Amino acid sequence: GAPVEVDISDMQPGDLKRTQWQGKPVWVLRRGDETIDELARIEGELRDPDSSVEQQPAYARNEYRSLKPEYLVVVGLCTHLGCSPSYKAPDEDNDFGDDWIGGFFCPCHGSRFDMAGRVYKGVPAPTNMVVPPYKFISDNRILIG
Ligand code: FES
Repeated sequence: GAPVEVDISDMQPGDLKRTQWQGKPVWVLRRGDETIDELARIEGELRDPDSSVEQQPAYARNEYRSLKPEYLVVVGLCTHLGCSPSYKAPDEDNDFGDDWIGGFFCPCHGSRFDMAGRVYKGVPAPTNMVVPPYKFISDNRILIG
């Protein structure tokens, strides 16, 4: 499929934009400074904090799983059986406890992922969410694919 362009110029911290690429949902998430800092704090809660399983391009194999810390680009599908996770913004009330910094929750069997799409321990999903190939074509535009 053709690459898909996303305009990120109007995104605020915590905003999620949804598009499609190759028939799959692809989400762009803008992270605020506090969220970026917390990605390191919760590493002990995660199954694969260093993204050792290849679920992302090499340039996104870092603690942010992205080219720029502010923006996550991720395929919006649960890595268990492919349900669509719900986005939980960092400031939303939730029942997941102190280690929750916001992210994605899959209603099918309860898998949860952090604000980098990294899977928590003890849930059915085996791996982090998939980061598709993408690049910045300007400060305000991302090209997916
Ligand atoms: Fe998401 Fe099973 S499909 S937890």
